[in-house]
Amino acid sequence: MNNREASTECGGYQLPEIRPLASSDLPRVMDIERQGYSHPWSEAVFRDCFKDNYRLWALFKEDCLIGYAVVAYLVDEAHLLNLCVHPGSRGCGAGRHLLKYLMGQARQDGMVQMLLEVRESNHSAERLYTSAGFEEIGRRPGYYPAADGREDARVMTVSLDK
Ligand SMILES: CC(C)(COP(=O)(O)OP(=O)(O)OC[C@H]1O[C@@H](n2cnc3c(N)ncnc32)[C@H](O)[C@@H]1OP(=O)(O)O)[C@@H](O)C(=O)NCCC(=O)NCCS
Repeated sequence: MNNREASTECGGYQLPEIRPLASSDLPRVMDIERQGYSHPWSEAVFRDCFKDNYRLWALFKEDCLIGYAVVAYLVDEAHLLNLCVHPGSRGCGAGRHLLKYLMGQARQDGMVQMLLEVRESNHSAERLYTSAGFEEIGRRPGYYPAADGREDARVMTVSLDK
């Protein structure tokens, strides 16, 4: 695995390649995860997701892993559990590219709806999801741990049935 830091510029930016995430990618995933979240998942949580009803995707730029996503399929609903891009590769369309891809894959796999939770304070992620067609359908009070207690989650969904 190539652990070079990703470029911080978008000039001449080519969209990254998307491949299934492998367990051998997890050291790099953990590095990005710790930079992406105040309360990151543990490696054990990622390992638990390598199951039949989960889809794990990786974004690669010149063989360097720069982002990933985890989706769980439950009957005909896809639950987006994690979507993260390396801080040095944000703002160039990589997150949107991965989101659109995993939505298309979920549709192909027979899912009719996608659901996610997002921290109330996470405005960049909320804007990304809204721009991809997600709508807020409710809140989960105190869903996330926070530095000073708990934080609410917005619950957002999009129909894949189009
Ligand atoms: C959320 C995240 C995945 C976005 O990835 P990204 O590659 O930077 O996103 P993109 O460049 O594809 O941007 C797509 C849209 O997201 C929104 N967005 C992204 N970064 C933003 C920012 N800093 N401020 C406001 N909106 C932002 C915009 O709507 C943007 O569209 P636009 O460029 O046309 O305005 C990334 O910020 C990240 O990994 N954050 C940490 C982990 C996280 O919070 N994941 C979501 C958990 S629910």
